Amino acid sequence: MATAVEPVGLTTTKAPFIEAAQHRGELYITQPYELYSQENHDTWARLYGRMLERWERYANRHYLEVLQTLQLDPTRVPRLEDVNKFMSPLTGFRAKPVSGYVPAFRFFDCLRNREFPTTITIRDGQTIDYLPEPDIFHDIAGHVPMHTDRAFADTLVRFGDCAHVAADRVQSIADEHERLTTLTSIQKAMARFFWFTIEFGLMQQPGGKLTAYGSGLLSSYGELAHCIESPAVQRFPFQLEWVINQYFEIDHYQPLLFVVESFDHLFEEVGRLEQWMKDGRLDNVSPGEPEMSEADLKSFLEHAPA
Ligand SMILES: [Fe+2]
Repeated sequence: MATAVEPVGLTTTKAPFIEAAQHRGELYITQPYELYSQENHDTWARLYGRMLERWERYANRHYLEVLQTLQLDPTRVPRLEDVNKFMSPLTGFRAKPVSGYVPAFRFFDCLRNREFPTTITIRDGQTIDYLPEPDIFHDIAGHVPMHTDRAFADTLVRFGDCAHVAADRVQSIADEHERLTTLTSIQKAMARFFWFTIEFGLMQQPGGKLTAYGSGLLSSYGELAHCIESPAVQRFPFQLEWVINQYFEIDHYQPLLFVVESFDHLFEEVGRLEQWMKDGRLDNVSPGEPEMSEADLKSFLEHAPA
């Protein structure tokens, strides 16, 4: 008697499909939906189910509105195709499945084309609380709802513009040592801005309520409450000169967060980031985390100048 074979799964720690794509050097892939195992869907259901009450209390207003209309199936890993059908008519953004880490310039360049590199694996059901790398829960439940806001989506596109300005700027520096140190500094500034806004941003909504809009917060059961409630967290109004010089670590709850007033405010700040870059004000930011990998640096230097 034939019995149905359980799919092997697309688990962050074990996904032969992803390993094979990486082995072939394929960064941009498809989402082979039939490979998700029942355990993968169960993990999604547990992650999603327990967040609902937390989102209700702590998430940004736009996030909650979209969550209602997006109507993700709480019991199944989402299909990117369905998510894109919902998202792209609103802001043009699409989730683009990837097999792993996208080097910095290519990542920002995707944003410029309104494509968001999206992980398709889901964390192991045994370790649902903490995961250093992104998974589909982080990328879809954490990021996607914000991409339907016009000003937020435009902010992401401006990041892509910034990456092009950075690449053009450093490629015109003749001295190799100076070129690399300048690029490292500019990239650090961009990564820090991204981290303290898109990933870990807070917003003071009209009327005074403090909410989370950063995807790292919105996809973390523990940190979402902690970032709003805990007296141990320092929360300061967003200040560009501070953010670009502030190092961060990724393996614990954030002790320091920055608050914006609105997504229009965020959009203005990314415009200032670009201007500061053009003016050379990001050329020598404070050293420290995040470290820039060779692949990140190379991705900027390989880009053909405009
Ligand atoms: Fe993220």
